[in-house]
Amino acid sequence: MSDDLTFARGILARAERVVVFTGAGVSAESGVPTFRGPGGLWKTFRPEQLATPEAFARDPRLVWEWYGWRRDLVAACPPNLAHVVLARWMLLRGGVTLVTQNVDDLHERGAEEAALGLLREGRLAAAAVNGDEDDLRAAARPIAARAAPIRLHGSLFHVHCTRCGEQREHHGAVDATSETTLPRCAACGGLLRPGVVWFGEALPEGALEAAFAAAAVAHVCLVVGTAGAVQPAAALVDEAAGAGARVIVVDPGKTAYDGMADVRLWGTAGEMVPALLAGSGS
Ligand code: APR
Repeated sequence: MSDDLTFARGILARAERVVVFTGAGVSAESGVPTFRGPGGLWKTFRPEQLATPEAFARDPRLVWEWYGWRRDLVAACPPNLAHVVLARWMLLRGGVTLVTQNVDDLHERGAEEAALGLLREGRLAAAAVNGDEDDLRAAARPIAARAAPIRLHGSLFHVHCTRCGEQREHHGAVDATSETTLPRCAACGGLLRPGVVWFGEALPEGALEAAFAAAAVAHVCLVVGTAGAVQPAAALVDEAAGAGARVIVVDPGKTAYDGMADVRLWGTAGEMVPALLAGSGS
Protein backbone atom coordinates (compact mmCIF):
# COMPACT_ATOMS: atom_id res chain seq x y z
CA MET A 1 0.00 0.00 0.00
CA SER A 2 1.41 3.38 -0.93
CA ASP A 3 2.47 5.77 1.80
CA ASP A 4 -0.03 8.30 0.47
CA LEU A 5 -2.86 5.83 0.85
CA THR A 6 -1.77 4.91 4.39
CA PHE A 7 -1.48 8.59 5.28
CA ALA A 8 -4.91 9.38 3.82
CA ARG A 9 -6.50 6.46 5.67
CA GLY A 10 -4.98 7.73 8.90
CA ILE A 11 -6.33 11.24 8.38
CA LEU A 12 -9.81 9.87 7.69
CA ALA A 13 -9.78 7.49 10.64
CA ARG A 14 -9.01 10.36 13.05
CA ALA A 15 -11.58 12.76 11.54
CA GLU A 16 -14.83 13.25 13.39
CA ARG A 17 -16.45 15.21 10.54
CA VAL A 18 -15.80 14.61 6.84
CA VAL A 19 -17.24 16.32 3.76
CA VAL A 20 -17.06 14.32 0.53
CA PHE A 21 -17.33 16.32 -2.72
CA THR A 22 -17.93 14.46 -5.98
CA GLY A 23 -18.19 15.18 -9.68
CA ALA A 24 -18.76 13.34 -12.93
CA GLY A 25 -15.62 11.26 -12.50
CA VAL A 26 -17.19 9.17 -9.71
CA SER A 27 -19.78 7.93 -12.25
CA ALA A 28 -17.39 7.44 -15.18
CA GLU A 29 -16.88 3.75 -14.42
CA SER A 30 -20.68 3.28 -14.47
CA GLY A 31 -20.62 4.38 -18.12
CA VAL A 32 -21.82 7.98 -17.58
CA PRO A 33 -19.79 10.41 -19.73
CA THR A 34 -17.97 13.20 -17.87
CA PHE A 35 -18.16 16.79 -19.16
CA ARG A 36 -14.62 17.91 -19.94
CA GLY A 37 -12.65 14.64 -20.09
CA PRO A 38 -12.01 12.53 -23.23
CA GLY A 39 -15.43 11.81 -24.80
CA GLY A 40 -16.92 14.34 -22.39
CA LEU A 41 -20.36 15.83 -23.13
CA TRP A 42 -19.00 19.36 -23.69
CA LYS A 43 -16.57 17.97 -26.27
CA THR A 44 -19.52 16.89 -28.41
CA PHE A 45 -22.35 19.26 -27.47
CA ARG A 46 -22.42 23.00 -26.94
CA PRO A 47 -23.63 23.87 -23.41
CA GLU A 48 -25.02 27.23 -24.57
CA GLN A 49 -27.31 25.35 -26.99
CA LEU A 50 -28.57 22.80 -24.48
CA ALA A 51 -27.93 23.73 -20.82
CA THR A 52 -29.10 27.34 -20.35
CA PRO A 53 -32.55 28.86 -19.67
CA GLU A 54 -32.15 30.81 -22.94
CA ALA A 55 -31.62 27.59 -24.91
CA PHE A 56 -34.77 26.10 -23.37
CA ALA A 57 -36.81 29.22 -24.18
CA ARG A 58 -35.48 29.14 -27.75
CA ASP A 59 -36.02 25.43 -28.43
CA PRO A 60 -37.52 23.34 -25.61
CA ARG A 61 -37.94 20.36 -27.95
CA LEU A 62 -34.20 20.19 -28.72
CA VAL A 63 -33.28 20.57 -25.05
CA TRP A 64 -35.73 17.87 -23.98
CA GLU A 65 -34.48 15.56 -26.74
CA TRP A 66 -30.98 15.84 -25.30
CA TYR A 67 -32.06 15.42 -21.66
CA GLY A 68 -34.26 12.50 -22.69
CA TRP A 69 -31.21 10.85 -24.25
CA ARG A 70 -29.09 11.50 -21.10
CA ARG A 71 -31.83 10.15 -18.81
CA ASP A 72 -32.14 6.93 -20.82
CA LEU A 73 -28.35 6.50 -20.85
CA VAL A 74 -28.00 7.13 -17.10
CA ALA A 75 -31.02 4.97 -16.16
CA ALA A 76 -29.27 2.03 -17.84
CA CYS A 77 -26.02 2.60 -15.88
CA PRO A 78 -25.53 0.78 -12.56
CA PRO A 79 -23.94 2.46 -9.52
CA ASN A 80 -20.28 1.39 -9.28
CA LEU A 81 -18.10 0.22 -6.40
CA ALA A 82 -17.15 3.79 -5.45
CA HIS A 83 -20.82 4.80 -5.03
CA VAL A 84 -21.61 1.70 -2.95
CA VAL A 85 -18.48 1.72 -0.77
CA LEU A 86 -18.89 5.46 -0.02
CA ALA A 87 -22.49 4.86 1.08
CA ARG A 88 -21.54 1.85 3.24
CA TRP A 89 -18.83 3.90 4.91
CA MET A 90 -21.26 6.76 5.57
CA LEU A 91 -23.89 4.41 7.05
CA LEU A 92 -21.41 2.60 9.31
CA ARG A 93 -19.27 5.43 10.64
CA GLY A 94 -21.51 8.60 10.64
CA GLY A 95 -20.16 12.16 10.63
CA VAL A 96 -19.88 12.25 6.80
CA THR A 97 -21.69 14.74 4.56
CA LEU A 98 -21.78 13.87 0.86
CA VAL A 99 -22.09 16.77 -1.59
CA THR A 100 -22.40 16.10 -5.31
CA GLN A 101 -22.48 18.11 -8.52
CA ASN A 102 -23.86 15.05 -10.32
CA VAL A 103 -27.44 14.88 -11.59
CA ASP A 104 -27.41 11.10 -12.29
CA ASP A 105 -28.87 9.84 -8.95
CA LEU A 106 -26.17 7.12 -8.86
CA HIS A 107 -25.16 8.04 -5.30
CA GLU A 108 -28.80 7.48 -4.26
CA ARG A 109 -28.98 4.14 -6.08
CA GLY A 110 -25.59 3.15 -4.62
CA ALA A 111 -26.92 3.99 -1.15
CA GLU A 112 -29.91 1.67 -1.68
CA GLU A 113 -27.58 -1.16 -2.67
CA ALA A 114 -25.34 -0.42 0.33
CA ALA A 115 -28.27 -0.40 2.76
CA LEU A 116 -29.61 -3.66 1.32
CA GLY A 117 -26.20 -5.30 1.60
CA LEU A 118 -25.71 -4.18 5.20
CA LEU A 119 -29.19 -5.44 6.14
CA ARG A 120 -28.51 -8.80 4.48
CA GLU A 121 -25.18 -9.05 6.34
CA GLY A 122 -26.97 -8.22 9.60
CA ARG A 123 -24.65 -5.23 10.09
CA LEU A 124 -27.59 -2.90 10.35
CA ALA A 125 -30.81 -3.71 12.12
CA ALA A 126 -34.24 -2.83 10.83
CA ALA A 127 -37.68 -3.49 12.26
CA ALA A 128 -40.05 -6.07 10.74
CA VAL A 129 -37.58 -7.62 8.29
CA ASN A 130 -38.42 -11.30 7.94
CA GLY A 131 -36.15 -11.94 4.99
CA ASP A 132 -38.85 -11.23 2.42
CA GLU A 133 -37.15 -9.33 -0.46
CA ASP A 134 -39.82 -6.61 -0.66
CA ASP A 135 -39.62 -6.12 3.09
CA LEU A 136 -35.87 -5.85 2.90
CA ARG A 137 -36.09 -3.26 0.11
CA ALA A 138 -38.70 -1.28 2.01
CA ALA A 139 -36.53 -1.34 5.13
CA ALA A 140 -33.47 -0.30 3.13
CA ARG A 141 -35.03 2.88 1.73
CA PRO A 142 -35.04 5.02 4.92
CA ILE A 143 -31.56 3.73 5.75
CA ALA A 144 -30.30 4.67 2.27
CA ALA A 145 -31.70 8.17 2.78
CA ARG A 146 -29.08 8.65 5.54
CA ALA A 147 -26.36 8.35 2.87
CA ALA A 148 -28.12 10.53 0.30
CA PRO A 149 -26.07 13.40 -1.13
CA ILE A 150 -26.72 17.11 -1.01
CA ARG A 151 -27.35 17.78 -4.71
CA LEU A 152 -25.96 21.13 -5.82
CA HIS A 153 -27.00 20.86 -9.49
CA GLY A 154 -30.39 19.12 -9.21
CA SER A 155 -31.36 15.81 -10.80
CA LEU A 156 -32.09 14.48 -14.30
CA PHE A 157 -35.04 12.65 -12.74
CA HIS A 158 -36.76 15.73 -11.39
CA VAL A 159 -38.82 18.30 -13.28
CA HIS A 160 -39.94 21.84 -12.57
CA CYS A 161 -43.07 23.47 -14.01
CA THR A 162 -42.18 26.63 -15.97
CA ARG A 163 -45.60 28.12 -15.09
CA CYS A 164 -46.51 27.21 -11.46
CA GLY A 165 -43.03 26.21 -10.29
CA GLU A 166 -44.09 22.81 -8.99
CA GLN A 167 -41.15 20.43 -8.62
CA ARG A 168 -41.38 16.64 -8.58
CA GLU A 169 -39.70 13.36 -9.47
CA HIS A 170 -40.14 12.27 -13.06
CA HIS A 171 -38.98 9.03 -14.64
CA GLY A 172 -39.62 7.26 -17.93
CA ALA A 173 -39.26 8.15 -21.58
CA VAL A 174 -39.75 11.74 -22.78
CA ASP A 175 -41.48 12.15 -26.17
CA ALA A 176 -39.58 15.05 -27.78
CA THR A 177 -40.94 14.63 -31.29
CA SER A 178 -42.67 18.03 -31.10
CA GLU A 179 -43.39 20.80 -28.60
CA THR A 180 -46.93 19.44 -28.14
CA THR A 181 -45.64 16.06 -26.93
CA LEU A 182 -43.28 17.48 -24.28
CA PRO A 183 -44.04 16.74 -20.62
CA ARG A 184 -46.68 18.95 -19.03
CA CYS A 185 -47.50 19.85 -15.42
CA ALA A 186 -50.34 17.75 -13.97
CA ALA A 187 -51.42 20.71 -11.80
CA CYS A 188 -51.52 23.60 -14.31
CA GLY A 189 -50.69 22.16 -17.73
CA GLY A 190 -47.52 24.32 -17.94
CA LEU A 191 -44.43 23.07 -19.78
CA LEU A 192 -42.12 21.06 -17.55
CA ARG A 193 -38.36 21.59 -17.72
CA PRO A 194 -35.53 19.28 -16.56
CA GLY A 195 -34.87 19.75 -12.81
CA VAL A 196 -31.17 20.53 -13.26
CA VAL A 197 -29.27 23.77 -12.62
CA TRP A 198 -28.32 25.34 -15.94
CA PHE A 199 -25.40 27.65 -16.66
CA GLY A 200 -26.25 31.15 -15.45
CA GLU A 201 -28.79 29.89 -12.90
CA ALA A 202 -28.53 30.07 -9.12
CA LEU A 203 -27.95 26.86 -7.18
CA PRO A 204 -30.71 25.68 -4.81
CA GLU A 205 -30.22 27.89 -1.75
CA GLY A 206 -30.87 25.31 0.93
CA ALA A 207 -28.50 22.80 -0.66
CA LEU A 208 -25.73 25.37 -1.10
CA GLU A 209 -26.03 26.57 2.50
CA ALA A 210 -26.06 23.05 3.92
CA ALA A 211 -23.05 22.04 1.81
CA PHE A 212 -20.93 25.06 2.77
CA ALA A 213 -21.96 24.73 6.42
CA ALA A 214 -20.68 21.13 6.40
CA ALA A 215 -17.46 22.21 4.68
CA ALA A 216 -16.86 24.96 7.26
CA VAL A 217 -16.74 22.44 10.14
CA ALA A 218 -15.14 19.47 8.38
CA HIS A 219 -11.83 17.98 9.55
CA VAL A 220 -11.30 16.37 6.16
CA CYS A 221 -12.55 17.19 2.65
CA LEU A 222 -12.41 14.17 0.33
CA VAL A 223 -12.66 15.22 -3.34
CA VAL A 224 -13.51 12.52 -5.89
CA GLY A 225 -13.75 12.92 -9.67
CA THR A 226 -14.21 16.62 -10.27
CA ALA A 227 -11.99 19.00 -12.25
CA GLY A 228 -13.22 21.83 -9.99
CA ALA A 229 -13.98 24.03 -12.98
CA VAL A 230 -17.50 25.24 -12.17
CA GLN A 231 -18.41 27.85 -9.57
CA PRO A 232 -19.92 28.31 -7.08
CA ALA A 233 -19.84 24.54 -6.34
CA ALA A 234 -16.08 24.30 -6.85
CA ALA A 235 -15.45 26.80 -3.99
CA LEU A 236 -16.67 24.19 -1.48
CA VAL A 237 -13.15 22.75 -1.22
CA ASP A 238 -11.62 26.20 -0.64
CA GLU A 239 -14.21 26.74 2.11
CA ALA A 240 -13.19 23.50 3.84
CA ALA A 241 -9.45 24.08 3.42
CA GLY A 242 -9.85 27.68 4.60
CA ALA A 243 -11.50 26.40 7.78
CA GLY A 244 -8.55 24.07 8.45
CA ALA A 245 -9.71 20.79 6.85
CA ARG A 246 -7.15 18.40 5.35
CA VAL A 247 -7.81 17.86 1.64
CA ILE A 248 -7.59 14.46 -0.05
CA VAL A 249 -8.03 14.44 -3.86
CA VAL A 250 -8.83 11.27 -5.84
CA ASP A 251 -8.58 11.70 -9.63
CA PRO A 252 -6.63 10.09 -12.47
CA GLY A 253 -6.13 13.50 -14.12
CA LYS A 254 -5.18 17.02 -13.09
CA THR A 255 -7.69 19.08 -11.06
CA ALA A 256 -7.96 22.66 -9.81
CA TYR A 257 -7.30 21.35 -6.26
CA ASP A 258 -3.94 19.68 -6.80
CA GLY A 259 -2.05 22.62 -5.29
CA MET A 260 -4.04 22.56 -2.04
CA ALA A 261 -4.21 18.77 -1.58
CA ASP A 262 -2.61 17.28 1.55
CA VAL A 263 -2.82 13.91 -0.18
CA ARG A 264 -3.18 13.37 -3.92
CA LEU A 265 -4.29 9.90 -4.98
CA TRP A 266 -3.74 9.50 -8.73
CA GLY A 267 -6.24 6.87 -9.80
CA THR A 268 -9.85 6.14 -10.60
CA ALA A 269 -12.71 6.31 -8.10
CA GLY A 270 -13.47 2.61 -8.57
CA GLU A 271 -9.89 1.71 -7.66
CA MET A 272 -8.99 4.34 -5.04
CA VAL A 273 -12.19 4.77 -3.01
CA PRO A 274 -12.45 1.10 -1.93
CA ALA A 275 -8.70 1.06 -1.14
CA LEU A 276 -9.04 4.28 0.87
CA LEU A 277 -12.08 3.18 2.86
CA ALA A 278 -11.24 -0.54 3.27
CA GLY A 279 -10.77 -1.51 6.88
CA SER A 280 -12.55 1.64 8.07
CA GLY A 281 -15.66 -0.45 8.71
CA SER A 282 -16.99 -0.14 5.11
N1 APR B 1 -12.51 8.19 -11.46
C1 APR B 1 -12.28 9.41 -10.88
N2 APR B 1 -12.20 10.57 -11.58
C2 APR B 1 -12.32 10.49 -12.92
C3 APR B 1 -12.55 9.26 -13.59
C4 APR B 1 -12.65 8.09 -12.80
N3 APR B 1 -12.87 6.89 -13.33
N4 APR B 1 -12.64 9.52 -14.94
C5 APR B 1 -12.47 10.87 -15.08
N5 APR B 1 -12.28 11.45 -13.87
C6 APR B 1 -12.07 12.86 -13.55
C7 APR B 1 -11.44 13.72 -14.62
O1 APR B 1 -10.02 13.62 -14.60
C8 APR B 1 -11.92 15.11 -14.22
O2 APR B 1 -11.04 15.71 -13.28
O3 APR B 1 -13.33 13.45 -13.30
C9 APR B 1 -13.26 14.84 -13.52
C10 APR B 1 -14.49 15.24 -14.32
O4 APR B 1 -14.47 16.62 -14.51
P1 APR B 1 -15.62 17.34 -15.38
O5 APR B 1 -15.85 16.56 -16.61
O6 APR B 1 -15.23 18.76 -15.49
O7 APR B 1 -16.91 17.16 -14.49
P2 APR B 1 -17.33 17.94 -13.14
O8 APR B 1 -16.14 18.42 -12.40
O9 APR B 1 -18.27 17.07 -12.42
O10 APR B 1 -18.13 19.19 -13.75
C11 APR B 1 -18.70 20.12 -12.88
O11 APR B 1 -19.77 21.21 -14.73
O12 APR B 1 -20.76 20.90 -16.74
C12 APR B 1 -21.00 21.24 -15.45
O13 APR B 1 -22.96 21.03 -14.16
C13 APR B 1 -21.95 20.28 -14.76
O14 APR B 1 -21.81 19.30 -12.55
C14 APR B 1 -21.08 19.61 -13.70
C15 APR B 1 -20.00 20.63 -13.45
